[in-house]
Amino acid sequence: MSAVVSEIDRFNRLSATWWDRRGPMRPLHVINRLRLAYLLELIESRLARRGRPVHGLRVLDIGCGAGLLCEPLARFGAAVTGIDAAEKNIAAARAHAIGEGLRIDYRAGAPAAALRSDERFDLVLLLEVVEHVDDVEAFVAGAARHVAPGGLLVASTIDRTWKSFALAIVGAEFVFRVLPRGTHQWRRFVRPAELEAATQRAGLRSIDRRGMRYLPVLHRASWVRDTSVNYLAAFARPQQGHGSADLGGDEPSGPSNEAVR
Ligand SMILES: C[S@@+](CC[C@H](N)C(=O)[O-])C[C@H]1O[C@@H](n2cnc3c(N)ncnc32)[C@H](O)[C@@H]1O
Repeated sequence: MSAVVSEIDRFNRLSATWWDRRGPMRPLHVINRLRLAYLLELIESRLARRGRPVHGLRVLDIGCGAGLLCEPLARFGAAVTGIDAAEKNIAAARAHAIGEGLRIDYRAGAPAAALRSDERFDLVLLLEVVEHVDDVEAFVAGAARHVAPGGLLVASTIDRTWKSFALAIVGAEFVFRVLPRGTHQWRRFVRPAELEAATQRAGLRSIDRRGMRYLPVLHRASWVRDTSVNYLAAFARPQQGHGSADLGGDEPSGPSNEAVR
């Protein structure tokens, strides 16, 4: 329902380029190191101490592309399901995983079509996808439904600010050309408060948010305090019957910035 046909067509056309580290997906490869470190810290600090380490963790990556995050998580032993509305991305993901000797449950389709309504995961990922859908609220609600009690949802996206227009669209697509033109539409960028409201309505609690900076000339990424361009946000579903005290933390903060730098 939230899928935008033109977006899915565009990603289908890019399907052969996903694993080219110097191609149009280069920024995703560059930020992957930070994203993975963040997820591992979050798993360690929020899930592992309640008996759910990475090994065997049920992970759902919605809008997984060709599996840039699915693969490293599977390598760490997680049971990964990756879904994407662009069928050619899933074909590319499957082919690449086979070449790497990895078992990942890849499915083509939007979440409502690709998932059974009763499927639950310890960690649900929405990485660089909410800025490509029509109805963020419905999309987030659909994803949140699959977060198990005590589980987490992590989203990464771009804030809708003048700064993101200057850097993520003018800078990235027209000046430095690190992304193909038309990759992003500013009006689809998602304000942190919108993401928080959508997750809250879906029964999740915000536990962390942090900014990420991408330097186009150097092709380097780092954590920053500023969340007005790229940012990641983590949300937790309370354990059934225990309330927020059982979210795995004594305080509403995620992994330390220092640990994942
Ligand atoms: C920018 S890519 C991000 C890929 C991956 N999450 C990553 O960060 O490496 C966005 C992906 O979301 C997928 N997508 C867009 N709308 C979707 C929808 N409604 N349901 C599922 N996947 C969608 C696209 O096909 C594309 O592969």
